[in-house]
Amino acid sequence: MTPAAQVDRYAVVGNPVAHSLSPRIHASFATQTGQKISYEAIEIPLDSFANGIRDLQQQGFSGLNVTVPFKREAWELCDQMSVRAQDAGAVNTLSFMPDGSVAGDNTDGVGLTRDLVENLGVAIEGQKILLLGAGGAVRGTLGPLLALAPDRLTIVNRTPQKAIDLAQDFHKFGKIHTITYATLGSTGYDLIINGTAAGLSNQVPPIPDSVLGDNSVCYDMMYNISSSTAFVDWASTRGVKQAFDGRGMLVEQAAEAFRVWRGIQPRTAEVIRALGQL
Ligand code: ATR
Repeated sequence: MTPAAQVDRYAVVGNPVAHSLSPRIHASFATQTGQKISYEAIEIPLDSFANGIRDLQQQGFSGLNVTVPFKREAWELCDQMSVRAQDAGAVNTLSFMPDGSVAGDNTDGVGLTRDLVENLGVAIEGQKILLLGAGGAVRGTLGPLLALAPDRLTIVNRTPQKAIDLAQDFHKFGKIHTITYATLGSTGYDLIINGTAAGLSNQVPPIPDSVLGDNSVCYDMMYNISSSTAFVDWASTRGVKQAFDGRGMLVEQAAEAFRVWRGIQPRTAEVIRALGQL
């Protein structure tokens, strides 16, 4: 047996993926739980996701996390999937089954709600929530957010039709409103979640200050490794006391993926702390 075959192999696949924190997070979980696994970051060419996945399956990987921009393609590729992945229309966790089939799951939504509710003590039930963006990141979190019974969930997106489509897709889970950036203004929200990719170019979506109430919480699904995000900076400079980036969500979605693969729920607080938050 070669040394590489002695441990179960996992990886995060994406493009780009080199700066992913997932290898560090899963290494922490493995040490903490005594699980013998390896976990690496692998870039897959943008035009050959399915081939890349089959290749890794043949190399003997046990499972993969999937990140930008492949979560939708991962959903299309799966032979079977969890209800929450089916609902989300996106997959971030793949398991290669003994019979050769590929099973999909989506741990992003539970990652967000666990970080908000359990780690940060942010209420969802009965709250007015504004979600910025209508891409894959937001799609994965709508079901779990609606399950926590907000008073009002409003989506705003640069391309308004995508918000409308999303609201229709998730209508059965609860009432979703849509609005445009141009007409945001007179309402303050309890919780504003940034699910856009604007931060990748250090930008903030065009939201007016009037979306902020006296005690608004701001949460960015994105994170930067060594600095705060543009959205967190936007909130902080406007006096928001509770502005968080997505490190906690990242660790929580990873913990849930680890549980799916290994059957063990790792502790997350110390890992989040090590990444510089909490
Ligand atoms: P992801 O899977 O990470 O969500 P995506 O599906 O490409 O990626 O979605 C990116 C989201 O960020 C979209 O909602 C996009 O708005 P459009 O649908 O109009 O493209 C949003 N977005 C990206 N850059 C933005 C910017 N500078 N301002 C506002 N929204 C932005």
